[in-house]
Order: sequence, then structure tokens, then C-alpha cells
Amino acid sequence: MNIGVLGIGLMGKPLAERLLQANYSVIVYNRTVTKAQELEALGAKIAQTPLEAVQGSDILVLMLTDATAIREVLFGTETADKLQNRTIIQMGTIAPDESRSIQEDVEKQGGQYLEAPVLGSIPQAKEGTLLVMVGSKLSQFEEYKTILQQFGSKPQHIGEVGTASALKLALNQLIASLTSGFALSLGLIERQGVDVDKFMDILRESALYAPTFDKKLNRMQQRNFDNPNFPSKHLLKDVNLFLNQAEENGLNTEILQGIRSIMQQTMELGLSDSDYSALFSAINREKS
Ligand SMILES: NC(=O)c1ccc[n+]([C@@H]2O[C@H](COP(=O)([O-])OP(=O)(O)OC[C@H]3O[C@@H](n4cnc5c(N)ncnc54)[C@H](OP(=O)(O)O)[C@@H]3O)[C@@H](O)[C@H]2O)c1
Repeated sequence: MNIGVLGIGLMGKPLAERLLQANYSVIVYNRTVTKAQELEALGAKIAQTPLEAVQGSDILVLMLTDATAIREVLFGTETADKLQNRTIIQMGTIAPDESRSIQEDVEKQGGQYLEAPVLGSIPQAKEGTLLVMVGSKLSQFEEYKTILQQFGSKPQHIGEVGTASALKLALNQLIASLTSGFALSLGLIERQGVDVDKFMDILRESALYAPTFDKKLNRMQQRNFDNPNFPSKHLLKDVNLFLNQAEENGLNTEILQGIRSIMQQTMELGLSDSDYSALFSAINREKS
């Protein structure tokens, strides 16, 4: 069985490495080919085009930015009608409706489609401890479970295509809300000259505490947002995906609209490729 990994970015690279370590035959494609070439030394074949990767694989694992990138790679002119008998495992974060529409187009070509978005980042991808949420037919989940287990030992079947994407967006909405809520409180603590350790001690004892606060505390205090696992621009993408879907579903999204504005200001500060905790800089501006 040959597996193609398309999208060798922050997350796609460790996913390809996991498959190579498990002795799968892997062919990789990345738009910026040089990034994929690093995997040659580990035994991967390098595809110069999406078509080459599609032709050389039975299963295609996609770890691309968004639905536009996925459509370009799968349905770009040179790959037209080449998905027959191929199985697509789509692992990026996209909207439920986008996922269902891609499924439809894959199936029209005689291919199979599973969505498998993940919670966790580069360290978990390297260790194979991602939380993998799968939207597919149950039979497809059972058929491809062994491959998904390379990425996370307990992949979970959520329901039909679209349900896992919705669950992933719900979780990422919490990343945005919890991080911005914590940043705002930390900002007040700093500006009022309250001892941050005392603030954290009390917070940790309380029902309000979330482990992500401690994960981001140092970065915010030092204003060091370098070497991100999950950059601000991707969190803004996910906030926008959530807003579109939630508005369509008739939810009141005013809270998240405020956070979107904070995220946009974070981009304007030149922090789009920084860790998403950089939203602290938009909430608690440095005094000039
Ligand atoms: N980073 C995380 O912690 C994390 C965690 C869970 C889920 N996710 C999700 O997983 C997905 C990938 O994230 P990432 O962090 O790996 O992002 P990334 O490092 O920015 O990688 C994005 C990949 O998509 C490719 N790409 C973008 N636009 C393209 C296009 N139009 N045509 C062809 N290829 C294109 C990029 O190619 P180039 O190299 O040529 O730009 C790159 O391979 C996103 O949906 C993200 O939200 C990320």
C-alpha cells in the first residue's frame, strides 16, 4: 500500500515522518518542493506535482491550510478525474460544509473521502498522540483505523463527514476564547501591579483554571511568540470558519466577533506567523 502525504508544512512533515517510521511506502508532495525534499533522507519519494503523488498512491493524507488549497491540490486541472479508487484522508481544519462539498466531488470521481481533523500540535504529531476525530462511514473508519493510529493511538469516529469538522471548530473556538479571556485578565493584573504568581496560584486552585493558561503564561509575560506550533493566522482562519458556520446556524456570535477583531489587530501588528498567544499584544499594547 502506498500513501501520499500532500502538504508538508508544520503538521504534514511529522505526519509523513510517522508513516515512514512505521515502514509505510510514502510519497510526499509540497507546493514548495524544497520542504518535501527533507524527507527524502528518511525514505520518502518526492512528487514534483500533485498528479505524481496521486498516481503513486492508494491513500492520500492531506494536511493543507484550507479548503482552497485542498481543492487546488485535488482538483487542479492536471489532477482532473484521477481520484478513482483513491482514498482521501483530509486532516486540515476546514468547515463542515466545505468538507461535505469536497467529499461530494471526490466521490463523483470514484474516490473515497474521510475527514480526520486533529487536536494537538507538532509535539503530539511527532509522538503520535494527536486526538484524531473522524467523520466518515463507520466501515471506512474501521478500514483505515490502522493508518490513523499512527497519528493518535485512539482515533474516534464522530459521525458522517462534517461532524468531525464541526467538533474541531468547536474546540478551536475554545482555543480563541480561553486564550483571549486569559490575556485580558493577565493584562489587568499587570497594569494594576498585582503579583502574577499570586494571581496564578488562586486561578490554579479555582474551577476557572484551564491548563492552556500555564502553557501561554510565559510567552505572554515575555512577549515571546517565536517558533510557533500553531500560528496566529491559522487561528484567525478557524475563527472565521466558526463564525460563518455559526451564523448560518443562527447562533449569537458577538463574543467571537470581538475576538476576530483582536486577531485581525494581531495580524496588523505583524504577528501573523507568530504563536497565537501573540493576541496578548493586541489586547495589552506595549506602552510607547
Ligand atoms: N499547526 C498546528 O498546531 C495545527 C494543529 C491542528 C490542525 N492544524 C490545521 O492543519 C492544517 C495545516 O496546518 P499547518 O500548521 O501544518 O500549516 P502550514 O505549516 O502553514 O502548512 C500548510 C500547508 O499547505 C500548503 N498550501 C497552502 N496553500 C496551498 C495551495 N494553494 N496549494 C497547495 N498547497 C498549499 C503549504 O504549502 P507551502 O509550504 O508551499 O506554503 C503547506 O504545505 C491547517 O488547516 C491548520 O489549521 C494545525
